[in-house]
Amino acid sequence: MSNHLLKGKRGIIFGALNNQSIAWKVAERAHEEGATFVLTNAPIAMRMGEINELAAKTGSQVIAADATKIEDLENLVTQAQEILGGKIDFVLHSIGMSPNVRKGKHYTENDYNYYGQTMDVSAMSLHKTLATLYKHDAMNEWGSVVALSYIAAQRIFPDYNDMADAKSLLESIARSFGYHYGIKKKVRVNTISQSPTVTTAGQGIKGFTEFINFSEQMSPLGNASAIACADYCISMFSDLTKYVTMQNLFHDGGFSNTGVTQQVIERFGDQ
Ligand SMILES: NC(=O)c1ccc[n+]([C@@H]2O[C@H](COP(=O)([O-])OP(=O)(O)OC[C@H]3O[C@@H](n4cnc5c(N)ncnc54)[C@H](O)[C@@H]3O)[C@@H](O)[C@H]2O)c1
Repeated sequence: MSNHLLKGKRGIIFGALNNQSIAWKVAERAHEEGATFVLTNAPIAMRMGEINELAAKTGSQVIAADATKIEDLENLVTQAQEILGGKIDFVLHSIGMSPNVRKGKHYTENDYNYYGQTMDVSAMSLHKTLATLYKHDAMNEWGSVVALSYIAAQRIFPDYNDMADAKSLLESIARSFGYHYGIKKKVRVNTISQSPTVTTAGQGIKGFTEFINFSEQMSPLGNASAIACADYCISMFSDLTKYVTMQNLFHDGGFSNTGVTQQVIERFGDQ
């Protein structure tokens, strides 16, 4: 259903790998709400070509960019404005990757080269994206940038490994850059802290199935789906949330404020 919430708005959407990706759902919803946008992902992620299907469906062009490379981001920001015919109103940063998680390293024995890559891809890429937009004055006033986070930034979830540290940094970058971009151009920067969601990145975490079930039972509303997350992103890109900035916004069915639920506590009776 469309409410034309993004009518006339131009955007850049990072991170649609396949039709499970949160960014994929955001692109579909942004299209329904009247936005035009470019899709981008790392060159290596485009090998399977699934993004072209999304591009055709949403009338978008695809620009390859490794979000850790400034030259790729400069090219992306310049080309996006040419293709879309003006400055950008919204950006979705939906990027995460940890070589330590991929290689099954234990947190206490992480490889520091991998650690650096985790920070660069999953957190510093937000700073690099914002810095490129800022330098090129590529955003319209009241524009909105959203990056996706996870509650491991605040609390320990052991198998999330160094991604937890990356999410803490990501949320801090949103706060710090949100201050500077707010003052310079009234651009808003926020993170949305999403429930565990079945996607390629999510499934890379050890014990993910057990974990998603635990989270479901610990959330009064249940886990938020990728589609619901897309709806929240749309509201954050719209003019209905103009004064929300520098926040980490929990989109998790109430998980973050729940100590325990009846469903979970009952499992611990009479041991
Ligand atoms: N799935 C979950 O449970 C969950 C929960 C909370 C937050 N998140 C976050 O949501 C975001 C999107 O993840 P997802 O679950 O949709 O998984 P996904 O695997 O579909 O998306 C991750 C994306 O990051 C891209 N990427 C990796 N390295 C890149 C680089 N160097 N340059 C540009 N792009 C790069 C990948 O190609 C992929 O498209 C991530 O930030 C993730 O941490 C996911």
